Amino acid sequence: MIDLRSDTVTQPTTGMRRAIAEAAVGDEQKREDPTVIELERRVAELLGHEDAVFVPTATMANHIALKLLSRPGDVLVAERHSHVVVYEYGGAAVHAGLMVYGLPGIAGRISAEQVRAAVPERTKSADQAPSLVSLENTHNNAGGRVWPLAELGRVVDAARELGLAVHLDGARLLNAATAVGCPPAKIAVRADTVTLCLSKGLGCPLGALLASTAPLIERARREKHLFGGAMRQAGIVAAAGLYALEHHVERLADDHARARRLGQGLHEAGLSVDLEQVETNFVQIDLAPLGLARSDALVILREAGVGLSATIHPTVMRAVTHLGIEDEDIDRALTLVPEALLGAGVVS
Ligand SMILES: Cc1ncc(COP(=O)(O)O)c(C=O)c1O
Repeated sequence: MIDLRSDTVTQPTTGMRRAIAEAAVGDEQKREDPTVIELERRVAELLGHEDAVFVPTATMANHIALKLLSRPGDVLVAERHSHVVVYEYGGAAVHAGLMVYGLPGIAGRISAEQVRAAVPERTKSADQAPSLVSLENTHNNAGGRVWPLAELGRVVDAARELGLAVHLDGARLLNAATAVGCPPAKIAVRADTVTLCLSKGLGCPLGALLASTAPLIERARREKHLFGGAMRQAGIVAAAGLYALEHHVERLADDHARARRLGQGLHEAGLSVDLEQVETNFVQIDLAPLGLARSDALVILREAGVGLSATIHPTVMRAVTHLGIEDEDIDRALTLVPEALLGAGVVS
């Protein structure tokens, strides 16, 4: 199967498996794992922050961040389809005691004006007011959409004016940096905390990092332990992260080019793909014009040998490129997907 369901389906490459096998390891909980320490140093530097902590998942990184930046009962402002709101089982409420104020975004982005309007004038000291904003770049549910730097800057400015902390869920931040053509630190540096995931476009089996100031990361290590995320010989997986930073970052541009070619080809074949939305490694296909139920379409495609997946939008499916997808896979998908969908559509 040409597996375009997600960039999380990648298998470690031969080179990555070799790096894993050769990793120098130690007890990570005791800060004795040199590979973890090196990965944390490299990621902090890459993101323009003082320090970083290695955790098993981006979900854990997000929740540690939300806890660090708030007190129970505070309000979190976030785009209403962002990962922290939709896919983390209410972790913001469960772990940090946060109430979520979800704002409707455009392409996954909220505006400085929306953030300002979300903070009402206080009439008494006990008034509930937002204490932090979480932004997502690239934005998963918007289809891998990217924040223009100036727009991101304006939202961060608004948050600062209002005294709100800023968390950046940059699970795919290196895709964003690739799309914008800037160093990752330029996107990440102004946030209080930043999540970077290793198990998506970077192709690692697991792992994520949270970057911030040294004092916040010291507190984050305690939270990580509380979450049960403090590990032992974790250099085994951190080695995959170091390998990916060395070998899998530049190639993200290939994923983006393949997504673009796939989107363009599907559009030319008559499928509903908005090419403006193809900014990174996601292609969204709207089934509404075909009058085909998405669940049926996904089965038909799978039988034809192509894996796509559902999105939060009821008639929309997505195809995601990653390091397991080559040019020939795109060629074949460009034949198989239109054939399967246009053949099955009620309206064609
Ligand atoms: C934007 C974003 N943040 C966080 C996560 C969570 O990653 P994980 O499932 O590895 O914890 C994801 C996963 O898809 C994501 O897309």
